[in-house]
Amino acid sequence: MLKLGVLISGGGSNLQAILDACVFGALKGKAEVAVVISNNKNAYGLERARKHGVPAVFIDRKKFAGPAGFCEEIKNELSKYGAGLVCLAGYLLKLEPNLVGAFKIMNIHPALLPKYGGKGMYGHFVHEAVIKAGDKESGATVHWVDEHYDHGGIILQKNVPLAAGDTPETLAERVLEAEHELYPRAILKVINDKF
Ligand code: GRF
Repeated sequence: MLKLGVLISGGGSNLQAILDACVFGALKGKAEVAVVISNNKNAYGLERARKHGVPAVFIDRKKFAGPAGFCEEIKNELSKYGAGLVCLAGYLLKLEPNLVGAFKIMNIHPALLPKYGGKGMYGHFVHEAVIKAGDKESGATVHWVDEHYDHGGIILQKNVPLAAGDTPETLAERVLEAEHELYPRAILKVINDKF
């Protein structure tokens, strides 16, 4: 059974999709969430982890002199719980080379990369840009993480067509729904491909 380490900063609806997939979905018998780590003490995703009986770890960035020390602590926690694959699920901070180099790390992004990625392209900014550009479709991307924002190799994507009258909010809602289906499927793909 592959042990997943999941990093979050917020609500954790993608974490929930992964937890559910491990218990009764596509990942059942193949993967389990071994630890959930957050830089935000109040992230609801930590509560979701606890409800599933999964260790929920808050790491306070302020306790470290710089980002490398903070990432070293994340690395230590992931190792402590035996993570064999790391999933970023709404984790908002940049990862330092010491962490990126230590694990295979995946991320989910609410657009069809390489479009609408990079620094500052997150949350509603993404959906606003898609609508402003007049694109006919958006979607979600699961990709490998390297040292640059939204840059590593693409694992899977799912398209979401734009509807007449879409606002950033309505589009965000449909893309998030697509993410919940896509992320577990992408994890299964990398397991089957023996990443
Ligand atoms: C998702 O839209 C994801 O693509 C992005 O952050 C959001 C996280 O949502 N990286 P949630 O915390 O999983 O609900």
